Amino acid sequence: MPQKFDPINFSEEISADPQCNATLSSDRYTSNEFMNKEWERLWTQCWLFAGVLTDLKEPGDFFIYDIGRESIIITLNDNNNISAFYNTCQHRGNKIFTEDSGWVKQISCPYHGWTYGLDGELKKVPDEELFEGGVCKKEKSLKEVNVDVWAGLVFINMSDNPAPLKTFLGTIMDQLNPYHFENMELVKHQSVTLDTNWKTARDNFLEQYHVDFIHPQHASFVDCCDAQNYLWPFGHSHTWVESPVMNPRYDMPEEPPDYMKQYLIGLELDPEDFNGKVPDIRNAVQKQKRIIGKKLGFDYSELSDEQVSDVFQYDIFPNIFMTIHAERLWIFGPRPHGADPNKCIFTKYSLMIPEDKIRDKDKGLELLPGSYDYSYSDTRVEHEVFTRQDVIEGRNSMTVTIDQDIHYLNDMQAGMHSRGFDKAILSKDEERVQHFHDWVDNWLSDKSLWSKVSNSS
Ligand code: FES
Ligand SMILES: [Fe+2]
Repeated sequence: MPQKFDPINFSEEISADPQCNATLSSDRYTSNEFMNKEWERLWTQCWLFAGVLTDLKEPGDFFIYDIGRESIIITLNDNNNISAFYNTCQHRGNKIFTEDSGWVKQISCPYHGWTYGLDGELKKVPDEELFEGGVCKKEKSLKEVNVDVWAGLVFINMSDNPAPLKTFLGTIMDQLNPYHFENMELVKHQSVTLDTNWKTARDNFLEQYHVDFIHPQHASFVDCCDAQNYLWPFGHSHTWVESPVMNPRYDMPEEPPDYMKQYLIGLELDPEDFNGKVPDIRNAVQKQKRIIGKKLGFDYSELSDEQVSDVFQYDIFPNIFMTIHAERLWIFGPRPHGADPNKCIFTKYSLMIPEDKIRDKDKGLELLPGSYDYSYSDTRVEHEVFTRQDVIEGRNSMTVTIDQDIHYLNDMQAGMHSRGFDKAILSKDEERVQHFHDWVDNWLSDKSLWSKVSNSS
């Protein structure tokens, strides 16, 4: 049964409205004091998306999640359980792994050779007799970090007793389960270093007010003017944009614009059938995708018509937003720098349904026409790391739209340092920005709802 698309209801006890009306003054983006408070009360308390389960296929596979001043090892142990540990040796604190990911039989510190099992237990101390009284293996095992997995996405939490991930995400999980992200494959992994605060990057993707100005190409594909927003506890939010449709601010064209034509042809629809009937395209696409999906073996039956055609963005507080098509998941997110509020790393994971389900070249069938910024591979895709300048000069790209956003982020941060700027003023179209910052304030306050929920669970 396709799910009906409804706003999410969190349970009664976590339906609190933060009501703080955060003032978006420049210091929250630029000051070390604010950054340090965020580290103590937000980053180390929150569930954080850390990576994808497809990186943990066999016991011994691991990946590293670097966040702020911390580095976390996430690994699959011999019992096929996922464990997470601080990437710090318990001998004298050396950072154990310096690579992004890999496979190991056991976890060995390269400095003096202390060796731990995949479950973090200390196994071997070279020349242990040199330590007076020996070394307590239990006390000196790797320090654990909470870890949980949902829909193929790995989350960690550095606090002592957090409420479960399920409490944190609420029924966002139920709403997204029908997409089955766990069946998708990682086809691209990219990171760009930016000279901007992590929240400046988040703000950009929490509003559509800028779309007409820096993304003019969207006018012939999505209706950002009528986007529907939903605001949820703990700082999560969601926006829903109809597609493929025309931006209603412009005159309706007689025939489909070029971008829609290509999309229709890819779906085996004749653009000429829609001359004078451009508003009918969205509905036709919803029907046609289900037909082609059947031929390719991709099952849309759990998804609503809106989920088959439209663009859904889910903002999971604090560190990611997911842009979702039925066939593709993009996960974007900034990670703060450990010591400089003016820097962050912005990462994108691209996941797709398996290649044989998205297209059949011989039969000329495809479900997401014109969207081939990825490549399927038998081996793990390379993690591409680049700079904003690489994007501006065309050496790397996160898609045209994201590149356009990346152009502005450093300039936003620079402007906030000016003596001529005091605080932001927000429109109705920027309500998700306000909501996000209200919840940042709630997390930082003594009345943090998450602490209350965690302490009572
Ligand atoms: S710091 Fe790791 S073995 Fe010495
Ligand atoms: Fe944008």
